[in-house]
Amino acid sequence: MVPRRRLPGADPSNLWGNAREGREVPIELQSPLERQARRVASGAEIVLEHVTRTYRVRRGMDVRALADVSLRVAPGELLAVVGPSGCGKSTLLELLCGLQSPDAGTVACAPAVLMPQLDLLLPWLSALDNAALALRVAGASRTQARARAAGLFAELGLEEFERARPHELSGGMRQRVAFLRTLLAGKPVLCLDEPFGALDAITRSEMQEWLAATLAREPRTVVLVTHDVEEAVLLADRVAVLSPRPGRVLAELEVELPRGGPGRVRTDPDVIALRERALSVLGMGARG
Ligand SMILES: Nc1ncnc2c1ncn2[C@@H]1O[C@H](COP(=O)(O)OP(=O)(O)OP(=O)(O)O)[C@@H](O)[C@H]1O
Ligand SMILES: [Mg+2]
Repeated sequence: MVPRRRLPGADPSNLWGNAREGREVPIELQSPLERQARRVASGAEIVLEHVTRTYRVRRGMDVRALADVSLRVAPGELLAVVGPSGCGKSTLLELLCGLQSPDAGTVACAPAVLMPQLDLLLPWLSALDNAALALRVAGASRTQARARAAGLFAELGLEEFERARPHELSGGMRQRVAFLRTLLAGKPVLCLDEPFGALDAITRSEMQEWLAATLAREPRTVVLVTHDVEEAVLLADRVAVLSPRPGRVLAELEVELPRGGPGRVRTDPDVIALRERALSVLGMGARG
């Protein structure tokens, strides 16, 4: 009988805060990426060096998504990645999560979980069972998984919606359930692909505040892909600006303001200046 694999962070009694203990997985049970991640150790959770990724679409037709991308992300840091549509942002996240391999260069990343661009909730499961899915996949019993997820519903403003099906939830609530599922995977690195892309401006703004507060309570290393430069500046420690395809890193902008602090508002002059700098790197210059 094949022994059941216990994934990092799979101890159902300690799933909320055990991301780092998750690395205590026996070495033989770790994926090559996880083994590689152990070697990252020296102060960075993610190291990409000269990464290139090309898709072979049809014979004789290659699409180069990323070219010579080098990035480092420290533990607990939130790196936002902005760039034009099709410049390889989703590809970058899939590389970090081990869903793809680079053609050239190296990717070293601690165990990472992807929140995909679409929320991909299962329509036949309740909100609670959707949120608990990662725990079930990791081997927790249904009762344990539900109990663990239920404890967090109120914290995420989802109380009383445990039994709702995804179609009965608002867009923002669906995103929160999807985010909860991502968080409960218990991995130290979260790769969030346009988590608020489909939301209206008001809900989006509420969700940004909610994400900042949640990460303040439950710190993780985060790579946040967004097409919204202002969102990047409001949420991140650093913003990597990518070129049009093939994506290359054009600039990395430090956001010096404390995350979640009073200065992180749209109207703050530093936020405005950084937003304009990122837009000008993108070739979109001062607007208006
Ligand atoms: N599985 C695939 N097979 C072939 N080509 C792909 C595949 N996935 C992505 N591509 C191509 O690679 C390029 C980068 O795609 P990717 O999805 O990473 O871009 P993106 O920056 O996330 O775009 P968007 O902002 O629109 O989500 C695009 O030209 C896309 O057509
Ligand atoms: Mg994408």
